[in-house]
This record gives sequence, structure tokens and C-alpha cells, in this order.
Amino acid sequence: MRIHELVQKLIDQALDDVHTALPARVEQFDPTTLRGEVVPLVKRKMEKDGEPVPLPPILDVPFWMPKAGPFVLRLPVRRGDVVLLVFSERALDYLLVDGQPQDPRLRRRHALDDAIAIPGLLHMGEGALPGDHAGDVALFDRATGNKIVLKASGDCVIHVPAGRIYLADESAGEAAARGTSLKEWLDNHQHPYSWTPGAGSSTTGPPTSPSPEPSKKVFLE
Ligand SMILES: [Fe+2]
Repeated sequence: MRIHELVQKLIDQALDDVHTALPARVEQFDPTTLRGEVVPLVKRKMEKDGEPVPLPPILDVPFWMPKAGPFVLRLPVRRGDVVLLVFSERALDYLLVDGQPQDPRLRRRHALDDAIAIPGLLHMGEGALPGDHAGDVALFDRATGNKIVLKASGDCVIHVPAGRIYLADESAGEAAARGTSLKEWLDNHQHPYSWTPGAGSSTTGPPTSPSPEPSKKVFLE
């Protein structure tokens, strides 16, 4: 083997264990700690003429979610979801302890064990997202058809075809009135009435003054 071939082989072997980014499948996820178990979507030949075999599962992987101060957007990651793994250049064991700089203490660099998962990779077997609202900010539930959309036009849509929208309190038990329908009923309803002596009955006319216009801005408590 010539020297340049040997050097190339050594470099290739060293790079085999330098990990940068890989897609992976989620096996488990804990929504309270935002950590889970993943399996990279890559097989690797462990012997020269052997069959490629899957990489082992990676345990206790921190998942990235949009988060700032007290606010967090927690996506319900499920088994089978595909994520992007990035591999920390130093061992993570001591680096995510308290948000302060730490000595990593361990020598691992770009190791499989030091993966961070970013949810949201779409694989082709999942099909496509809805084509509508491409120019808007949209939160879709592809299972129910629910969506919340901030439209570029200035409108905001909360579309919940089968469920309920709870406002102000998750345990609220009373339905809100439909303003236009209620106003139409109020302005046109009549009452039967009767009188004595003379024993007659009739129906009133509708109210002589209109009811208030439906609310355009409201708050709930
Ligand atoms: Fe009345």
C-alpha cells in the first residue's frame, strides 16, 4: 500500500467516527424532560464484505423545541417521527446541567452519544402538507383538519371543525351566543298574549327598538 493510500485510509477511518448531522427515527420521547431515544436512519458496514447494519439506538437525547424565557412551544413528538440529529463537538454530559459553561471532562468529540434532536423532518412516505395558506403562518393538525392561521391579509383563523374552542378557562361549560342570529331573533320575536274580560287573544308586534349590534371586540374572564 502506498503512503498516500495509507493516509487516505486512516483519514476515512477517523472520519467514520466524526458525526455531524443525520436523520433519525424516534423510539421514545418524554414530553416533560424533552428527551428521548432515537435510531439514526443510516446503516453501516461493520466488516469489509458484511451486510450494512443499523447503528445502535442513542439514549437520553435532548430535543430542541422553540423556547424562550417562560414560553415553550412543545410539539407532541411520537414514536416513528423523523428528526434531524446534530452531534455536539464535545460530550454533552456536563454541558446541559445548569446553563453555565462547564468543563466537558470527557474526551468524546462529534460522537453519536452526543446527539441533539430537532423535530420536524418530513420523509417522502408521509405525503405532503396542505397546499393552502402557503403565504400565511399556519399550525396544522393533519389528523383532525384543525388549523390556526395568521393570514397575510390580516385575518386570523381558528378552524376547529369537530372540536370545541375553550376561551378564558379550559373547564368552561357554557356556550357563547351567536351575535347575528341572536340579534335577528331579538328584533323579530313576538309574544302571544290574551286578555279578559272579553276573552280574546292575539300576538304582539316585534320590539319597537332594535337590540344592540353584535359585539366586534370582546373579552372574557
Ligand atoms: Fe320579548
